Amino acid sequence: MKALARYLVWGGEVFTGAKSFKANPVLGSHRLNRYGLHAARVWCGYWMTRLRMAMLAPGVPKADRKQFVDKGFVLKENYLSEAQFTSLVDAIARFEGEIRECCQGDARTHRILLTPEVLSAVPEVREVLEYPTLKRLFRYCSGHARLPICHIENVLNDPVEPGVRRDPQKNLHIDTFQPTMKFWLYLEEVSAKNGPFVFVPGSNRPDRDRLKWEYEMSLQASRHADHYTASGSFRVGPKDAARLGSEGPRAFCVKANTLLIANTFGIHARGDAEPGSSRLALWGMSRTNPFLPLPGFGFGYFNRLQYRVLTRMRHRDDKKAAARGTQSSWHRIEQTRIIDTPSTVDLVKETR
Ligand SMILES: [Fe+2]
Repeated sequence: MKALARYLVWGGEVFTGAKSFKANPVLGSHRLNRYGLHAARVWCGYWMTRLRMAMLAPGVPKADRKQFVDKGFVLKENYLSEAQFTSLVDAIARFEGEIRECCQGDARTHRILLTPEVLSAVPEVREVLEYPTLKRLFRYCSGHARLPICHIENVLNDPVEPGVRRDPQKNLHIDTFQPTMKFWLYLEEVSAKNGPFVFVPGSNRPDRDRLKWEYEMSLQASRHADHYTASGSFRVGPKDAARLGSEGPRAFCVKANTLLIANTFGIHARGDAEPGSSRLALWGMSRTNPFLPLPGFGFGYFNRLQYRVLTRMRHRDDKKAAARGTQSSWHRIEQTRIIDTPSTVDLVKETR
């Protein structure tokens, strides 16, 4: 009876964003995937998302929509006015709050969750995230009326010590089988030194070649040696990356004050970086059940609720990890300012 209940849950997950081939034997079933289960989820998830995007298109410039659908990203340089950008960076540099850290190989990611309480303490950030044009663009690109969950993020690149593996985000990959929106408003210049976002333009579309690749990957994923591939975030070799887009991987070396929104169903990676470098940005992501036919209502209540839910999850993970005598994967650190720069003015100057 227990086994039946478990299979009912696993079967139900087929109609959600669940992606792990090894955790869910229905999703990982060689037989079902041979009949095309995974490829069908990819295809349906994409086109249902496109349907919701079409409903959210009014008010979004045609050029932005075309670039996002055709290439998988929207790029806007000099996004804020100079005065607004300067005051935003200055406010972020001065803000003191809870910072959580995630260590992956030679990279450490620091994030401050932009809860409604934090936003009231840093109105400069709230003002940016409240722009109606930006909210419309976010909603269109995520295919859902709920806004992305946002953070201040600083990615720090450590020296590669013996025994420390390479940051797994630096390998080309897709996040999941469904369209997923991530954005960065870069608060400092991004160059080959501090790990630019790398993306394969055009790899966001489930065309014939991509579906064939997804199908082949699904037949081996549940037993794949790579943990991330087995969990549904397929790693992509350079040959596949070159043929699955309209051009090869492109590194987004951009000026400070550039907004980048990408669909991370497309092939991407965190670019290589020099040890000791870092990259500061406003960052956020949005992912929903890909099979929903409607984009939701976008009530403020649900936007606020997602921050409460994430905060609770982090606290629960902290408790579980403490019981094991370890740290949670997103653990709290003592540092309270996102950058350790003595003078915020210096940072603001460097970003210009
Ligand atoms: Fe990713």
